[in-house]
Amino acid sequence: MNTKQRIALVTGGNRGLGAAIARALHDAGHQVSITHTPGNTTVGQWQQEQTAQGYTFTAYGVDVSDYESTQQLARRIHDDGHQVDILVNNAGITRDVTLRKMDKIAWDAVLRTNLDSMFNITKPFIESMTERGWGRIVNISSINGSKGQFGQTNYSAAKAGVHGFTKALAQEVARKGVTVNTVSPGYLATEMVMAVREDVRQKIIDGIPVGRLGQPSEIAALVAFIVSDAAAFMTGSNVAMNGGQHMY
Ligand code: CAA
Repeated sequence: MNTKQRIALVTGGNRGLGAAIARALHDAGHQVSITHTPGNTTVGQWQQEQTAQGYTFTAYGVDVSDYESTQQLARRIHDDGHQVDILVNNAGITRDVTLRKMDKIAWDAVLRTNLDSMFNITKPFIESMTERGWGRIVNISSINGSKGQFGQTNYSAAKAGVHGFTKALAQEVARKGVTVNTVSPGYLATEMVMAVREDVRQKIIDGIPVGRLGQPSEIAALVAFIVSDAAAFMTGSNVAMNGGQHMY
């Protein structure tokens, strides 16, 4: 893909889908920073392993659910002499439980991390993208934001909200060279999905027409296209990749 080198920031980029996206953007020639949860002690080793494989990532600890923490992140990135051209809002969590048993803590944690983070992280970078006249924002939603999922009222609500955020912001910045899109992955072979009870997970896999979980790298290749110069006409879209489990 013929695209200029840009500076990319991938939230939750040290594991699972985020790490695959960080690697794909690096493969596309971009300079990539990732965020991880503050105090995560495994990131240094992860960075070393990546470096050994030819991937250099700058890592920032930030709580995406906390507005002040994200403002500090923006200041640190600025002080490091960077701008953000490509933002991938990927960080997310699950607290799966039926609504009847769900407490307010589980509701708030998922809404704040998966939806408030869209505002918290995007806000400090949107102005400079529009000023430069070029930007790419990719928000990671989920199949379950579209179809709903038993045990995920919090997660489904937050992920549905992500696409509303995308569509509104896409209209606001379309004339400034900034595109905003949602990617809605299905069930992937990541720790998040592996945490689902085995019998429940097997039933889910049985319901995927291609007959398997997705690979994070498959989603990452899509993200690399969306942030390329070739995708300038694509904005406000929600692109699903879920092995046929839910057809829009
Ligand atoms: N529809 C209707 N009924 C269902 C159902 C469904 N999909 N799933 C379960 N039930 C029924 C069960 O048959 C059972 O009925 P009985 O009491 O009559 O036997 C009842 O609901 C209770 O089911 P569980 O035993 O599953 O309930 P639980 O309280 O033990 O577990 C749960 C609840 C933890 C939420 C569990 O259902 C679960 O893990 N669900 C999976 C949630 C899921 O898919 N998470 C995705 C995580 S990965 C991710 O989110 C990434 C992404 O973007 C895709």
